[in-house]
Amino acid sequence: MAKIEWRGGALLAPLPPAMVSCGTQEASNIITVAWTGILNTVPPKTYISVRPRRHSYSIIRESGEFVINLTTEELVRAADYCGMYTGAKVDKFEKCGLTREAVPGFSAPMIAESPLSLACRVTD
Ligand SMILES: Cc1cc2nc3c(=O)[nH]c(=O)nc-3n(C[C@H](O)[C@H](O)[C@H](O)COP(=O)(O)O)c2cc1C
Repeated sequence: MAKIEWRGGALLAPLPPAMVSCGTQEASNIITVAWTGILNTVPPKTYISVRPRRHSYSIIRESGEFVINLTTEELVRAADYCGMYTGAKVDKFEKCGLTREAVPGFSAPMIAESPLSLACRVTD
């Protein structure tokens, strides 16, 4: 197959989008992010790339915590919703029928319905 020459850009799509929960048990939010991945294994470091204009951005900046929740087929609609609506106006946990589950030692809740949740602290 002939290849297309593409100038610039980090084209690694399609990546599986994840649902990132943040905030507190009482005031939590979820943002869908496609820009996430591994930075380092020892020490374990991951990243998320969140636009400053997102409601989640200031929450994560302030708390220094977030949880990366992987999605499943059952969570596809919720992942889409959390990537389309802002937590400044709606409670996404409630709208999507998701359950906040406490993470020991963290204020940010994880999504109980996700099979794998990575609780993270911001270092940079
Ligand atoms: C599949 C998908 C992937 C997305 N990936 C990102 C991303 O990596 N970074 C980002 O800042 N926004 C991303 N967005 C957009 C945010 O999820 C969206 O603007 C969301 O409504 C922000 O929520 P918030 O205002 O409650 O923080 C993505 C949206 C979708 C649907």
